[in-house]
Amino acid sequence: MEKVYILAIESSCDDTSAAVMCNDVVLSNITASQAIHEQYGGVVPELASRAHELNIVPVVDAALKKADVSKEQLSAIAFTRGPGLMGSLLVGVSFAKGLAASLSIPMIEVNHLQGHILAHFIKEDGVEHKSPEFPFLCLMVSGGNSQIVKVNSYKDMEIIGQTIDDAAGEAMDKCAKIMGLGYPGGPIIDRLARSGNPTAYQFSKPHIPGFDYSFSGLKTSFLYTLRKLVAEDADYVEKHINDLAASFEVTVVSILMDKLYKASKQLKIKRIALSGGVSANTALREAYHSYAKRYGWEIFIPKFGFTTDNAAMIGVVGYYKYLDKDFCAMNEPAFSRTVI
Ligand code: KG4
Repeated sequence: MEKVYILAIESSCDDTSAAVMCNDVVLSNITASQAIHEQYGGVVPELASRAHELNIVPVVDAALKKADVSKEQLSAIAFTRGPGLMGSLLVGVSFAKGLAASLSIPMIEVNHLQGHILAHFIKEDGVEHKSPEFPFLCLMVSGGNSQIVKVNSYKDMEIIGQTIDDAAGEAMDKCAKIMGLGYPGGPIIDRLARSGNPTAYQFSKPHIPGFDYSFSGLKTSFLYTLRKLVAEDADYVEKHINDLAASFEVTVVSILMDKLYKASKQLKIKRIALSGGVSANTALREAYHSYAKRYGWEIFIPKFGFTTDNAAMIGVVGYYKYLDKDFCAMNEPAFSRTVI
């Protein structure tokens, strides 16, 4: 089989990442995260673009070195075209264009969300791997998206449900901020919730038709509950942080799982995958395992390193597009918003 070497670049938000793939096998996957945003409680777009500018050359260089692949061996360059922050995307897109032009090799544009979903197809040398068969359902939960996607093939994906307001990760981050925790709040809530009581508080759940999600009502319910409790005792949050985190987390997970279960039942699909940054969440992973046992689901949960933004997931999409000779022109612009 022909060996295809693809350099992949991801810069849609606050991680600068480069990966080298040999076909669908990842040889290197290097990510520089941007700690600068922590002090602001969220990603500051202008600072993100500047950090990408500083990081992109050393990250690409490190990915090529680790893979032991030279620029001249590359067959193509895959890059995240969108969705994401425009200034961040422009750094990766422009870099990819410049390098591809200088090497006279094709460019492959990749949709970031498709990358998260096809992360389930990344292989590692010497590691046993099972990819889902088509069709399967994928719950895509990150800081910017909460969607249920029906994946019919590498190229054919249908969003059958999505959030009408906040994303699940965004809700986690915002409620963590309400509790005075750091950024990103999702992993902090996860850690605190491990020693909390998930039934200590009840927060309202949305009533949205179909397979769509909503998290803004939960955020408001959480905020009002806390305001009332803090008015009676200024140290309330500090004293009950674990129970608050656990009760909030269990509500998010049950909102996500209820719709996913409904979709699985109606579409009669029991192959269920999980993607995006929030898929690192312990309670969500546990819920997947318990639904698998209860309803006979065949579940697919990616390795931690492939759940958050990374370039290997862009590289694997790049490989499948390479096989179809699905290249893009030099004048393709970055885009900040889109559907798959
Ligand atoms: O996919 P991702 O890395 O990128 C963006 O969408 O930007 O997702 C980041 C999101 C953040 O909202 C973060 O709080 C959340 O994923 N997250 C988690 C956990 N780890 C990351 N949420 C809950 N539990 C976690 N362990």
